[in-house]
Amino acid sequence: MADYKIVLLKGDGIGPEIVNQAVKVLDKAGEKFGFSIEYDEALLGGCAIDATGVPLPDETVEKCKNADSVLLGAVGGPKWDNQPGNNRPEAGLLGIRGALGLFANLRPAVIFEPLKEASPVKDEIINGALDIMIVRELTGGIYFGEKGRKEVNGQPAAYDTEMYTVPEIERIVRVAFDLAMKRNKKLTSVDKANVLESSRLWRETVIRISKEYPEVELNHLYVDNCAMQLVINPKQFDVIVTSNIFGDILSDEASMISGSIGMLASASLSEGKSGLYEPIHGSAPDIAGKGIANPLATILSAGMMLKYSLDRPEAAEAIEKAVNKVLKEYRTPDIYEEGTKKVTCEEMGDLVCAAL
Ligand code: IPM
Ligand code: MG
Repeated sequence: MADYKIVLLKGDGIGPEIVNQAVKVLDKAGEKFGFSIEYDEALLGGCAIDATGVPLPDETVEKCKNADSVLLGAVGGPKWDNQPGNNRPEAGLLGIRGALGLFANLRPAVIFEPLKEASPVKDEIINGALDIMIVRELTGGIYFGEKGRKEVNGQPAAYDTEMYTVPEIERIVRVAFDLAMKRNKKLTSVDKANVLESSRLWRETVIRISKEYPEVELNHLYVDNCAMQLVINPKQFDVIVTSNIFGDILSDEASMISGSIGMLASASLSEGKSGLYEPIHGSAPDIAGKGIANPLATILSAGMMLKYSLDRPEAAEAIEKAVNKVLKEYRTPDIYEEGTKKVTCEEMGDLVCAAL
């Protein structure tokens, strides 16, 4: 019997090609560090709609619940744009997060040393380095709140609801404080407490929990100010904790500042050890099947899986090191620079395995 059981949700677009490379790297890491993995596949997103009519079949939820961890490629594409809102590929992604209780989304925005010139932010601001951890609440708030259509004054109207319970806020905030303790002991909580009642409850709760973490320096920012601060002074941030919608938006902004969007990984964690790991980029249907996608974000997501779900931090670190080493010489087209060698998705996977 294998040591770990992992479900692969390859998804749509470039999903299958990038997940295949990550599997190669996981197996190579297993060989080197002495563990074995058994894989199973399940459908999520557009491919699931095509095969079963829905973006998240029950069988997929069952398989994921019974696995040690889940690796996801990407979902979505223009083919499914005309699906009703609750049957879009994205609804499948929200559904699996909810079904597995993945309330904590960790999105590191980092700059890889060999790519330090890639940030669109001025050199004197970024100075070649960035290391922010965004902790986004992932199963509550307005993405999961009551929504609907109605009529107001005889006109069609629509609404979505932002609501958080205290336990929901407490658990995500604790994840963020725990991470801050392992990093630079600095936490920024982001809200809109000057306007939203849900944000006022969020802020009160953060302040109360902060008493359990006297060593962590805590500050609060309104989300609009945070969006601005990320561009003018990103180095002030260590860990950021925020709601589902604000985290969705700010994590895209932070990843762009790093200049390495094709490189960034993420982890979605539940109360227990299991989790779902995925690159933060999308399914890139325009380049799907051409063999030119960058598999590194998925490979690094597999690395995060080894660290957070499978208790193999040495293997995770080795993968990170291997990626940095390969990047010095080899690049997929999205991160190509003169003086380096252009490689395909598959070659990149092989190079990381070799460097391991
Ligand atoms: C993300 C994506 C998803 C989200 C979409 C595809 C539902 O934007 O993971 O950030 O909003 O959470
Ligand atoms: Mg997003």
